[in-house]
Amino acid sequence: MSTSNPKTLIGIIGCGNISDAYLKGAARSGLIEVKACAALRLEAAQAKAARYGVQAMSIEALLADPDIRIIINLTVPMAHAEVSRQIINAGKHVYSEKPLAANFKDALALMQLASAKGLRVGCAPDTFLGASHQACRRALDAGAIGRPLGGSAVVMSHGMENWHPNPEFFYKTGGGPVLDIGPYYITQLVNLLGPVQRVAGLASVGNATRTVTSEPLSGRIIEVGVPTTVNAVLDFVSGANVSFSASWDVWKHNRTSPIEIYGTEGTLLGADPNFFGNTPRLCKPNGDWQDLSIADLPFGVPNRKARNGSMQADYRMIGLVDMAMAIRSNRPHRASGELALHVLEVLEALETSSRSSQFVRMGTTCLRPEPVPAGSDESVFA
Ligand SMILES: NC(=O)c1ccc[n+]([C@@H]2O[C@H](COP(=O)([O-])OP(=O)(O)OC[C@H]3O[C@@H](n4cnc5c(N)ncnc54)[C@H](O)[C@@H]3O)[C@@H](O)[C@H]2O)c1
Repeated sequence: MSTSNPKTLIGIIGCGNISDAYLKGAARSGLIEVKACAALRLEAAQAKAARYGVQAMSIEALLADPDIRIIINLTVPMAHAEVSRQIINAGKHVYSEKPLAANFKDALALMQLASAKGLRVGCAPDTFLGASHQACRRALDAGAIGRPLGGSAVVMSHGMENWHPNPEFFYKTGGGPVLDIGPYYITQLVNLLGPVQRVAGLASVGNATRTVTSEPLSGRIIEVGVPTTVNAVLDFVSGANVSFSASWDVWKHNRTSPIEIYGTEGTLLGADPNFFGNTPRLCKPNGDWQDLSIADLPFGVPNRKARNGSMQADYRMIGLVDMAMAIRSNRPHRASGELALHVLEVLEALETSSRSSQFVRMGTTCLRPEPVPAGSDESVFA
């Protein structure tokens, strides 16, 4: 094992679209370093490796590498559980893209395996660590809107087949607006309000097939295997209840506030939890909106042009840095498997509730992750 490198060495399995965000993020980090990447096709790993100056390995060689402490699982949702299981069985900590698994049962088994082996599981999204979402958390915890009573979370568009180079997985088990995008919203709601106790939902498939319009697969037909419109209510242990609308069947809408929380003493407007930054707003009884300052918190400065052309703060993989530092100092990490497991149970229950016409009660719970301290960069985790 190398002792000269003070950075935690990381491996990556899965070299598709999102791997660039992780490889770029790691290149900026003084605390972690990607040693190698692997994919089903070695050529895909070689292409990324050459671009980012890391090694390309077979999956077997990566799993066996004694220097690598944590492996990031960037495969498609259907493969998450199996690949994470292999990582844990190889004696490594795993940090997975969301969802933790394509279904709750597999995710629970994974958490049990990791616990038996004394290994950590971390999971995206880590966007709730962003300055905007942490500023909301700080305001709520300080009682700025009194006791949270209700809220609304909305994410609606017309899907992913117009931009992603290989969008089929978005419409298969583990995908859909609920499991693909829902984790950003529910994770931030749990960060703000704590765990959920029961949910009710209505779920439907808006279009049985989708036609890819992005390149290189333009014209390909995808059979839709997951709900694409869901409307739900979430009942939090704290007593707050929140409506949640997630759809990929909507051409245009005017519900422009991604997350709103209504309290006894005011209202909080949160920014899009798919990103880290933007200014949240708050109003007191009968008052006007006021901007909440995010300036003293890390991970809020815009650093990437989004698909709609706007500049956004995107520090994806900062949850991994927190996990690496948490392992070193033996403290809990924030973007944890326990949090992701609870969020997955909530999201899966929306479809279960729709089928049964019943509320579904959660079997899991989780602690709210520790707030991110004020600071300007990743050193807040060191
Ligand atoms: N694309 C995005 O903007 C984005 C953003 C956030 C999160 N994510 C999440 O990241 C994950 C990957 O998304 P993507 O867009 O990079 O997908 P992608 O299809 O572009 O890439 C997936 C990669 O996983 C590999 N793979 C698939 N099955 C595998 C297996 N069984 N073993 C090993 N490797 C396997 C593929 O070869 C490919 O390299 C998904 O869970 C997605 O929800 C994607």
